[in-house]
Amino acid sequence: MNKISVRWPLLVITLLLLPIPSVPAAPTAPATGESPHLSRVNYFQKQLPGDYVGMQNPLTSSREQQDQGQRLFDGYCASCHGFGGVGKGIEGERLAVEPAQLPRAAQGVFPSDRDSYLYWTISEGGVPVHSPMPPFKDVLASQQIWQIILYINTIAYF
Ligand code: HEC
Repeated sequence: MNKISVRWPLLVITLLLLPIPSVPAAPTAPATGESPHLSRVNYFQKQLPGDYVGMQNPLTSSREQQDQGQRLFDGYCASCHGFGGVGKGIEGERLAVEPAQLPRAAQGVFPSDRDSYLYWTISEGGVPVHSPMPPFKDVLASQQIWQIILYINTIAYF
């Protein structure tokens, strides 16, 4: 055996043992240090614009409405929130603020306020809380937003 063939495996082993340089993690919370979810709940409790107070879903939940909501969700929301609202979609991977886990979206909000909270969040997006979520009030009709909320309720475990 010549010297080169003996050294090869050694070189490979040495390279495998070298520590992998770690990539710095993207920031997951706004500059305040508060979690995006808490910032949003605080804003909702203290500064919610009057139009959104006390809203209730005018639609009756049915399989058709939920399916319609899911289709809209898959088209408009899954790119960030992932299908099923858990994890991250392709676009969500690139954001500095992590997209919320939607099954827990309204955690910490009074049950009677959940409809308002979700409707306001989807309508105004990240504008009030300085996150990259786009507002949907000029993109989706009110009825479509309520259908999406009916779908979110089916995946929720608040
Ligand atoms: C460009 C990426 C992006 C898209 C598209 C997007 N979101 Fe978001 N969403 C986020 C991010 C980031 C957050 C976390 C920060 C925040 O609360 O604004 C978030 C937060 C939320 C929350 C708040 C959850 C909580 O913890 O309080 C809800 C509800 C929500 N999104 C629903 C939706 C729905 C429904 C759609 C589609 C109509 C949608 N989002 C589309 C990025 C996105």
